[in-house]
Order: sequence, then C-alpha cells, then structure tokens
Amino acid sequence: MDLELAGKVAIVTGASQGLGKAIARELAKEGVDVAICARRREALDAAASELEQETGRRILPVTTDTTNWESVQRMVEITAATLGRVDILVNNAATPGGLVRGSLAEASEEALLADIDTKVVGYFRCAKAVAPYMQRQGWGRIINIGGLSGRRSAAISGMRNAAVVHLTKVLSDQLGPMGITVNLVHPGTTRTERSGPMYAEQARQAGVSVEEIERRITQHIAIRRIVDARELGYVVTFLASPKATAITGEVIAADGGSVRAVFQ
Ligand SMILES: NC(=O)c1ccc[n+]([C@@H]2O[C@H](COP(=O)([O-])OP(=O)(O)OC[C@H]3O[C@@H](n4cnc5c(N)ncnc54)[C@H](OP(=O)(O)O)[C@@H]3O)[C@@H](O)[C@H]2O)c1
Repeated sequence: MDLELAGKVAIVTGASQGLGKAIARELAKEGVDVAICARRREALDAAASELEQETGRRILPVTTDTTNWESVQRMVEITAATLGRVDILVNNAATPGGLVRGSLAEASEEALLADIDTKVVGYFRCAKAVAPYMQRQGWGRIINIGGLSGRRSAAISGMRNAAVVHLTKVLSDQLGPMGITVNLVHPGTTRTERSGPMYAEQARQAGVSVEEIERRITQHIAIRRIVDARELGYVVTFLASPKATAITGEVIAADGGSVRAVFQ
C-alpha cells in the first residue's frame, strides 16, 4: 500500500530517543521530513544525524520544552520556516511511567502537576500551535501517544493518559471539519534502547536471569512477546497517512494484547 506520505512534514516531540525516535524513523522511511524535539541538545543532534543518514530525509532537531508555550510556538515556526509546512504532529514527549507511582500518602502534588503539565497540557500546547497551519492547508494529522496506565488503577500518574484520551476526542470534533484527524495510540510495555539496561537491572535485583524477567512480562501479553518501538511506529505512520482518513477520535492500543478487559 502506498501510504501517500512522501513530501509531507511532521513534528515528533520527545524524539531524541525511545518511541519518539522510532516513530520519526518510520515516518522518514515513508518519505516524510521530520522535525524532532526534546530539551537536551546533544542527544537531539545525535538522533537527527543518525536518522538523516539512515533515511535520507531532512531531520530537523529543534530544542523544545513542551511545558513552555513560547518554546512550543518557536518549534512550530522553525519547522514551518525550514521544512516548508506542518502536516503531522506526533505528541509523545513525557516521562515514561510518570512521576507519581506510589501511594496517596507518598504522592507529591508538585510531581503530579509536572506530569500533567508535560503530557496533558504539553500535548494541548503543541496541538494549539500546529492547528492554524493545518487549518490553512485543510489537512492535518495529530497522533497522541498515551499509555495503558490510563486504563489501570496501578499508578496515580495514569490519570494523564486518561486525560489525553479525552483531549483526543474533543480535538477530533473541533478539528475534523478542517480536514484534521486526531487519534491516540496506547503503547504497552515496548522495547526501546532503555529496555536492555532496565531488564538487566531488574534481573540483578531479583536474582534471576534477564530471560526470566522477559518471561514474566510476556506471560501477560497475548502475542507472548514485547512489542518493538518500530512496530508502534508502523501504527502511528499509518494513522498519519491520508489512507487513515476514516479514523478520528479513536484510541488504539498497540501493546500486543496486554489488557484483558473488553472495550466496546
Ligand atoms: N516505553 C514504554 O514502554 C511506554 C509505555 C507506555 C507509554 N509510553 C509513553 O510513550 C512516550 C515516550 O516514552 P519513551 O519510553 O520513549 O520515553 P523516553 O525514552 O524517556 O523519551 C522521552 C523523550 O521525551 C523528551 N521529553 C521529556 N520531557 C520533555 C519536555 N518537557 N519537552 C520536550 N521533550 C521532552 C525526552 O528528551 P529530553 O529529556 O531531552 O527532553 C526524550 O526525547 C511517553 O509519552 C510515555 O509515557 C511509553
């Protein structure tokens, strides 16, 4: 299938590493020029040159803090000025797992507000900044990266992922008439460059092998393996394409089947 993405321009936030970088790579492989954003310049520049060499597309590193409106506006302006347009936004920048994982007694108000400022209000800021560009051209795609903690009661930080589901639906209604679709992808446990060292540390602490740590994770996943960041990138890339025009306001779990509940 030709995804008809060649020549489009995307912004992927939080793309110096992890899922954001993997998503940027898959978009670029489909012929998309990509502005990648994060706060730390060095990691961002390294990711940009790696992706540019690998894909042959223009990869523009723009240091951005999505908790700051001026910084987000600047990111969008620089992207449009340098790459010529803005067609696709992937909202991804956040601390994986969130900052508030303990009990109510241990949880701090500051950490919870920081989580929400980055993931919920940060996504809102980026959508607000790109919408006028997409509106003018009568076409756009916004994909929000959530997290399945929003469907579970395990961590207070999960509320940010529930909130971005709501934001997704509201924006899909508001922006749909302008040719802009807005969807959300929930990753489950996903293999990134952080996974190896993380599982090794968990294995060391538990006194078991890395294989045993992975077995404990995968026994709860229907496909019995950990989804790779690249595979999450495929889902996002399809949603970013003109071919996905029939889908908006939707929530798609790309986790290999780790939640037993039935959603209708
Ligand atoms: N990995 C998983 O298994 C998993 C599972 C469920 C959901 N998720 C979600 O997927 C997304 C990415 O997770 P990940 O595992 O790829 O995380 P990661 O490896 O820690 O990468 C996070 C990225 O976001 C950037 N970032 C963080 N705060 C930012 C801010 N305020 N402004 C701009 N950039 C910022 C980081 O760079 P700087 O620090 O330099 O800014 C980095 O590039 C998150 O929304 C996370 O909640 C991940």
